[in-house]
Amino acid sequence: MKQKIAVVGVGKLGLCFALNLEKVGFEVWGIECKTNYSNQLKQKDFESDEPFVNEMLCAATSLVIEDDIACVQKENIKDIFLMVATPSLPDGGYDHSQIERVTDRLIALGKSDNVRNIYVGCTTMPGYCAQLSNKLGAYGYTVSYNPEFIAQGSIIRDQQFPDQVLIGEFSQEVGDRLESIYRSFVKSNAAFCRMDPLSAEITKLATNCFLTTKISFANSIGDLAKTAGADVDSILKAIGADSRIGSKYLNYGFGFGGPCFPRDNRALGKYANSVGYPLRISEATDMVNEEHFQFQFQHYLENTSSAELVVFDGVAYKAGTTQITESQQLRLAVALAKAGRKVVIKDSAGVIDQVSKLHPELFKFETAVEAAG
Ligand SMILES: NC(=O)c1ccc[n+]([C@@H]2O[C@H](COP(=O)([O-])OP(=O)(O)OC[C@H]3O[C@@H](n4cnc5c(N)ncnc54)[C@H](O)[C@@H]3O)[C@@H](O)[C@H]2O)c1
Repeated sequence: MKQKIAVVGVGKLGLCFALNLEKVGFEVWGIECKTNYSNQLKQKDFESDEPFVNEMLCAATSLVIEDDIACVQKENIKDIFLMVATPSLPDGGYDHSQIERVTDRLIALGKSDNVRNIYVGCTTMPGYCAQLSNKLGAYGYTVSYNPEFIAQGSIIRDQQFPDQVLIGEFSQEVGDRLESIYRSFVKSNAAFCRMDPLSAEITKLATNCFLTTKISFANSIGDLAKTAGADVDSILKAIGADSRIGSKYLNYGFGFGGPCFPRDNRALGKYANSVGYPLRISEATDMVNEEHFQFQFQHYLENTSSAELVVFDGVAYKAGTTQITESQQLRLAVALAKAGRKVVIKDSAGVIDQVSKLHPELFKFETAVEAAG
């Protein structure tokens, strides 16, 4: 008999995770509250932009889609991954209300007859999992933290080939169980980083803070080099050749954006303030990203005329995705168009569709031919 696993919230992250588990032999119960979407998943007529998802969904024979988490008790499911969204709040923290709705429902179902393990895959504010653990312990649930280090556009592969698997474990026994689930589908020689939930929550945000810092550093040195008349690429290539530093994320280009980097960096800063240790590096990284944007804007203004076309070859926050959340490329295109430049955006139909709805008048569009995948 197949081991059953529940994935609550089968959105961008959860669906990929559910499919990776299903592929290696688990019976996966995907719990999804959006009725139209869950019907599409049940009928397998959902089309995802993520590589491999459509094929894996069609091939999945052990993926059951449900709308109520009550199935974890009826089906006696011991392992429950929470992958609902945690949007950012205006103050930089995370809104945990989708998690609360799931856990309130578990509480309403009454004390579980068997101990069940909840693994929180959502990005949370440090300390949140401990609160959840206190709330749910009396109802027979353990709470561990287990975030994913993935990028949109490569979620399935990133889950199969991670550098690290971060486990903020409730106990050693629960951590062992979670590690063995991962070992069944991870194909890389990943480091299993096991620690308490609070440390894991800080690690998740700090990893992204480090990357935003590295990107901002590269852009600052690049802006300095340009101002001084030096060769940006040679400088960064030489710095990145130092094995203590490395060349990844050390290119001169647009500032950091997307659905994770900016918000994780800000959330870490907010958390640090809340415990009385203001984290200057998170604030500085954000400021540098803004200064770099202004530098690029001025550079384009000074080096283009209102008669010529400025072409943006891609305005998603990262090539290969259709995500425009906090895209610095798009922000620059908008600023230049509003400053009177003629801006052409070349991108996939998915991106152009979003941008043309947001800014129907600002740009000329050219649909780029998508690379064969
Ligand atoms: N997408 C990414 O690139 C990424 C990367 C790293 C971390 N994360 C984190 O993963 C989490 C999920 O992100 P996502 O991008 O997959 O979000 P998403 O919005 O795409 O998916 C969340 C899903 O949960 C469903 N849901 C909400 N409440 C529910 C409930 N009570 N019961 C059942 N289903 C419910 C929603 O309908 C939705 O389909 C977030 O905390 C995010 O920060 C996401």
